Amino acid sequence: MRPVNPPCPDRRSFVAHCASLAVSVGSSSGAGRAIALGAAGCVAAGAHAQGSLDGDTDVPYVITPQAVVDAMLELAAVGSSDQLIDLGSGDGRIVITAAQRWGTRGLGVEIDPSLVRLARNRARQAGVEDKVRFEAQDLFATDLSPASVITLYLLPAVNLMLRPRLQALRPGTRIVSHDWDMGDWQPQKTIEVPAPGKPVGLRKVSRLMLWTVGQG
Ligand SMILES: C[S@@+](CC[C@H](N)C(=O)[O-])C[C@H]1O[C@@H](n2cnc3c(N)ncnc32)[C@H](O)[C@@H]1O
Repeated sequence: MRPVNPPCPDRRSFVAHCASLAVSVGSSSGAGRAIALGAAGCVAAGAHAQGSLDGDTDVPYVITPQAVVDAMLELAAVGSSDQLIDLGSGDGRIVITAAQRWGTRGLGVEIDPSLVRLARNRARQAGVEDKVRFEAQDLFATDLSPASVITLYLLPAVNLMLRPRLQALRPGTRIVSHDWDMGDWQPQKTIEVPAPGKPVGLRKVSRLMLWTVGQG
């Protein structure tokens, strides 16, 4: 059972670091005012950032650039028979892209209800409503057992907390993480993808890692 408000030093230091490094203010599509932060860099989208600072979320809202979404799904080799779950689905882009390009059924789990509304609207606009679902719920309270593919863009400490639940998934389930590893789990494959539109970091490159349950 997950502890209530578990200590999450990575998130706290990430948020504190972001707060000390604010360099500019811009706007983000559909998500309200965005504060772009340099160096360690993160984008915390307006009201969503408040949520993360209030301690309701384990990870701030930071989008995965579309080219990186595509690369994550290609690395997972998603297909029409897969059931994808994106943990912390933001605006739904990973689940929606998989449904659009590969006909994959998907579930996006997101703690912030305004992002869930945004994702549902985007799914409707993309014409994939029949394939995808977005639920406002805690990823730690989500049944992961239907998944054949799990995608993550979370934080190292959160990934570590998820390991026992990921390990318990059906053999063959693929797990793809954006940027953050799984501690001492050796990835089957690691790739780096140019990410010029990435709202965080100076290098504008994303690292993607693949694990398959029951292998390695
Ligand atoms: C780094 S963003 C990734 C968004 C999206 N997956 C993407 O790659 O564009 C992490 C997301 O996780 C959500 N989140 C944080 N803690 C959560 C929790 N406990 N349960 C569900 N979602 C959570 C945040 O609100 C945020 O939208």
